[in-house]
Amino acid sequence: MVVILDFGGQYTQLIARRIRELNVYCEILPYTAKLERVESLKPKALIFSGGAFSVYGEKAPATDPRIYQMGLPIMGICYGMQLMAKDLGGVVKPAGRREYGKTDIRILDDADIFQEIEKETTVWMSHGDYVDQAPPGFTVTASTENTPVAAMADATRRMYAVQFHPEVVHTPRGMDMLKNFLFNIAGFSGDWTMESFIEETVRQIRETVGEDEQVVCGLSGGVDSSVAAVLVHKAIGDRLTCIFVDHGLLRKNEAEQVMETFSGDFNMKVIKADEQDNFLGKLAGVTDPEEKRKIIGNEFIRVFEREAAKIAQIDYLVQGTLYTDVIESGTETAALIKSHHNVGGLPEDMKFKLIEPLNHLFKDEVRKVGEELGMPHDVVWRHPFPGPGLAIRVLGDVTGEKLDILREADAIVIEEIKKAGLYREIWQAFAILPNMKSVGVMGDSRTYAYTIGLRAVTSHDGMTADWYPFPHDVLARISNRVVNEVPHVNRMVYDITSKPPSTIEWE
Ligand code: XMP
Repeated sequence: MVVILDFGGQYTQLIARRIRELNVYCEILPYTAKLERVESLKPKALIFSGGAFSVYGEKAPATDPRIYQMGLPIMGICYGMQLMAKDLGGVVKPAGRREYGKTDIRILDDADIFQEIEKETTVWMSHGDYVDQAPPGFTVTASTENTPVAAMADATRRMYAVQFHPEVVHTPRGMDMLKNFLFNIAGFSGDWTMESFIEETVRQIRETVGEDEQVVCGLSGGVDSSVAAVLVHKAIGDRLTCIFVDHGLLRKNEAEQVMETFSGDFNMKVIKADEQDNFLGKLAGVTDPEEKRKIIGNEFIRVFEREAAKIAQIDYLVQGTLYTDVIESGTETAALIKSHHNVGGLPEDMKFKLIEPLNHLFKDEVRKVGEELGMPHDVVWRHPFPGPGLAIRVLGDVTGEKLDILREADAIVIEEIKKAGLYREIWQAFAILPNMKSVGVMGDSRTYAYTIGLRAVTSHDGMTADWYPFPHDVLARISNRVVNEVPHVNRMVYDITSKPPSTIEWE
């Protein structure tokens, strides 16, 4: 595997995704990770990410210098290159002018990472400081008009560094450079596939869970928990019991579909807990989004414990936690964004050990695993749905009436998007009930009714997102149908903000 040391760069996850697209497994560690931790992962190569600091700054992220003696090939990117330069005896200087955007580069040495790449090519730059002098042992392998050392290499020590970002699409030959580093220099063969992931994970689960141990899985109907459950079922069969909590915050017909697929098609043990009234009661009058999330997360586990206690002794709980959840919930370089219900909201006195078979996968990888496992397209390609469900799409206090309105509106939104053939290209689309009423006119009378919000975004992993540029006729159909068919609604608006600065969900 490759270890990516994260120095706080905005593209660190993208580096990881690119490497995995090349069928090489990698993990991100914060730059503060101890050398022993890096070593324990037995990486075959290291990548130093970018970062927003200056290497000479007071709080400049740095790493244990013994890392250079591990004998591993290293590729430094942007800040990672400047850090290598500083640590190994070169000189880094602040640039008079920040270099940002597409930049023409001249390759001076087309060996190693620049093998088979034309001498003049375009790259994506985003830096203030630059390397003024490469360290002893390094040669300059590329330059631009403003950056004399745009890339440097010490082939003997297998150390390579680039000032630009090979991981972004604006560096058209970036993937080839990464390929050269991974395959030619570090000796990877690119055999990490979803098939091998499944094999390895099934093996690990079988090794972890003893013959007489029992596992419980919270099935939510979403892609993540569904894939996690099928994966664990593949490993240990009926020692897995799924508990499906219908908290009343699900989309239209979702509960029925879940039961049909897993209990029916997949022949898995599924217990359905009807807890609609319980959750609604707990949420009554609560308006703070974080409090809602905590209440739902806590209650979810409580219901679990109750249901699990009815079965037998339970040793493990399966969670569909993804890599993005883990990173967003706070490694040292990525701050907590929201307490995601399946990580941060767990009660401290929780009684199970956790199995999180997907916690190193990105969403698109989970979908690939689902397909490989033969799961229905409808489940695998279903848009992501947050654990707290519709409760965080009904802004303010949640009531049964508001949920019904939202569910109907949401079903129309999804139906029309599917009819227009746009469902797959949209990462997530849904309706929101912003808890506001406005004046309208229907027939000859004045109405005073709810507004429905429409959110639709494109994204790769939910970390950043752009609002989706709907064809106007689709918007018109959605709006017409929602306002005409859903009682108590007289207006529809479209959310045209990207993430950041917004989030995908409204709460
Ligand atoms: P935000 O709103 O933070 O959402 O931009 C990013 C992605 O995460 C989903 N999301 C959640 N998923 N539990 C989950 O399992 C949660 O508490 C939660 N909050 C947001 C959201 O739907 C989007 O796909």
